[in-house]
Amino acid sequence: VSKAVVPDISLIDPQTTTTMSSSLTAATGMDALVHAFEAYVSNASSDITDLHALKAIELVYANLKKAISEPDNMEVRSKMMLGSLHAGMAFSNASLGIVHAMAHSLGGLKDSPHGECNAILLEHSIDFNYAHAPKRYKRILEHIFPNSGSIKQEEIKMNLIKMVRDLRLAVGITTTLSDLGIEKSDLHQLALNANNDACLATNPVDASLEQIEAIYEKIF
Ligand SMILES: [Fe+2]
Repeated sequence: VSKAVVPDISLIDPQTTTTMSSSLTAATGMDALVHAFEAYVSNASSDITDLHALKAIELVYANLKKAISEPDNMEVRSKMMLGSLHAGMAFSNASLGIVHAMAHSLGGLKDSPHGECNAILLEHSIDFNYAHAPKRYKRILEHIFPNSGSIKQEEIKMNLIKMVRDLRLAVGITTTLSDLGIEKSDLHQLALNANNDACLATNPVDASLEQIEAIYEKIF
């Protein structure tokens, strides 16, 4: 991470995404969703990054399934690309959290697909973080489902977890750590590496080595 590697110009061209396979569309789309979620609950978030993050969540949630079923639909691809851009603008300024810390560790050990790793961790991050950023998570749910105001506080977490899990399954991501070639004996080293990742610094709550390892156990 360095200001020296920020691009001067970015060409945001959805046409280039139409040749991605459905699994790459699913994984990169879920990655964009995680960028937005993590930026929104980041302890370095701000009013500006919040706008980008919520818009990104809205666009990805509304368009990812269709981008897979209608890969040549340029309107849908454009909205996904815009969602990804909004998510990038959010997390470039607010940074990320525990999902990326843990996904970086997985990708580093086995070259596991980044988006897939994020996708299978997102629901567990909500479970882990929720009590430390309840208003933020509530706002995400209200943004996607404007009529969710009457949902009881204790049901918000489960609704959000269901929302992201249903989307993950609908786009065909059912990966477990054993599918990625990870052994039980790898979990401790994975947790050690994740624990040293810079993304943890902006997670809404500190995570201990044991807690990180416990989350890996859940997706094994
Ligand atoms: Fe990412």
